[in-house]
Amino acid sequence: MKKASRLLRLAWVTALALPLAAVSSAETPQPVAAEAGKADFLALCAPCHGEDGRGDGPAAAGLAHRPADLTHIARNHGGGFPDALIFETIEGLDMPASHGTREMPVWGDVFVGEAVGSSVSLDTAKKAGAEAGRRIEALVAYLKSIQASD
Ligand code: HEC
Repeated sequence: MKKASRLLRLAWVTALALPLAAVSSAETPQPVAAEAGKADFLALCAPCHGEDGRGDGPAAAGLAHRPADLTHIARNHGGGFPDALIFETIEGLDMPASHGTREMPVWGDVFVGEAVGSSVSLDTAKKAGAEAGRRIEALVAYLKSIQASD
């Protein structure tokens, strides 16, 4: 019961807060520095994707699918880096957990959960959505900065 209501709250907060985050970041367009995403990348992504993003982190061996080589995203998309697509992939809303095939954690849920803590006020939800969006934007900017030139 308690777990179900926590999940419901998270679903609500995520559904409500992320579009709000999109609106608030649209009002103040600021280029996101790649450097801001580096700490999250090394702490959260490198275990699977590797410190250099090439898909060979220490946890990769235990996965059914090899983590993607994140330095070739641009090349795999015809040379242009697909910011919006990569944002959605990291956020995880493009792939419902019910699909059951995703090995990547749903980082949108993780970041909103960390930012919300135990509060459910609208104000907190908005801030949590903005914070999650900011962290994902920084990760996208970081991935864009490590694209291989070959
Ligand atoms: C538990 C291991 C794991 C962790 C941790 C992880 N990933 Fe992944 N990631 C994967 C796997 C495996 C794939 C390949 C698709 C799949 O099977 O889900 C993937 C795919 C991706 C893709 C899609 C690449 C493409 O070319 O389409 C992106 C982008 C990505 N990860 C970014 C991240 C970021 C950013 C983080 C950290 C915030 C992260 N990943 C953390 C396992 C992981």
